[in-house]
This record gives sequence, C-alpha cells and structure tokens, in this order.
Amino acid sequence: MTRGAESVGRSHDLPDEAATAALAQRLAPLLQAGDVIALLGDLGAGKTSFARALINALDGPPEEVPSPTFTLVQTYHRGGLELWHFDLYRLEEPDEVWELGLEEAQAEGVSLIEWADRLGAALPADRLELHLQQAEEGRRALLLGFGDWGERLEAMEEKPS
Ligand SMILES: Nc1ncnc2c1ncn2[C@@H]1O[C@H](COP(=O)(O)OP(=O)(O)OP(=O)(O)O)[C@@H](O)[C@H]1O
Ligand SMILES: [Mg+2]
Repeated sequence: MTRGAESVGRSHDLPDEAATAALAQRLAPLLQAGDVIALLGDLGAGKTSFARALINALDGPPEEVPSPTFTLVQTYHRGGLELWHFDLYRLEEPDEVWELGLEEAQAEGVSLIEWADRLGAALPADRLELHLQQAEEGRRALLLGFGDWGERLEAMEEKPS
C-alpha cells in the first residue's frame, strides 16, 4: 500500500499482547474525529487485538470488542469519540464499504479498518497505517503516518513511554 506521500515510519517490537496494549495506550490520546487507522497484516497478525486494545485505551467501561468478521463493522462510543471498527476481509468490492458507512465514519468518528488494503482507491489519503507481522517473539508493528499523521506520530514518538 503506497498511495499518498509517505512521511514518518517507525517500527515497534510487540513481544506479547501487553506490548500491543502499551502501544495502543500511547496512540489513544492522539485520536480525533475524522481519523482513519488502517490495520494491515496477514491472517492472525494481531489487527483485532490492537483494535481491541485501542478501543479499551479510551475512557469508558471495559468493552469486549469481538472481531467484526461477520458483521463487517461494529461501533463504540468511548472517550467522547465514535469508533467504527471495520473488518473488510469479506468485502467483495471496494464500493460495498460505502454501504457499511465509511463516509459517515470518516465524517463523525474514528475509523479502525482491518484489511484496509481491500479499499483500493477508496483508501483515504490521510491515514495512519499499522502494519503487523509475525516476529521471532510475538509481533512487530510498523507505523506509517500519511498526511498530518506524520507530525502527530513524531510527537508521539518523542514522548517518553
Ligand atoms: N503482540 C502479540 N504477541 C503475541 N501474540 C499476539 C500479539 N498480538 C496478537 N496476538 C495473538 O495473535 C492471535 C491473532 O490475533 P488477532 O485476532 O488480533 O489477529 P487478526 O490480525 O485480527 O486476524 P484476522 O486476520 O483473522 O482478522 C491471537 O491469538 C492473539 O492473542
Ligand atoms: Mg481480525
């Protein structure tokens, strides 16, 4: 996925789910309405685990956050934000995503999109991409910020964790 001008990329080792949750905790305070987070990686790479951790990192009672494999989208209200969690694995054509409410999600909330590569040209130019892959120990995440996410990521990385 290379559409749009690339700005900042950082790699993070995520040896276990606690490390995934810690990264989500750092990212959560940056979220604002209109954000798009593309969660990318093979089957079982940890996309849902990250989305679950990110949703739970926002203010609110603990949420179960099931994988939206069959519903394709689930919404949450937390930390003053509307969160739309998409799983596009079963999407047959990129255009189907409009029926799922991607436009509304982008206008009003934060979109967390598993298998965002299924969007093709509908992929928003301003986005944060989180690429997950298997590592010797757990997973490795690469964060790539496009548009204003470049600067926002830099600010996050500069803050001590
Ligand atoms: N950082 C990590 N270290 C080790 N295991 C992890 C990590 N993150 C997730 N896992 C484990 O990987 C498995 C798959 O995770 P998850 O369901 O989040 O993947 P996914 O990318 O959403 O898969 P799918 O492509 O089917 O949607 C789970 O058993 C989860 O506990
Ligand atoms: Mg998943």
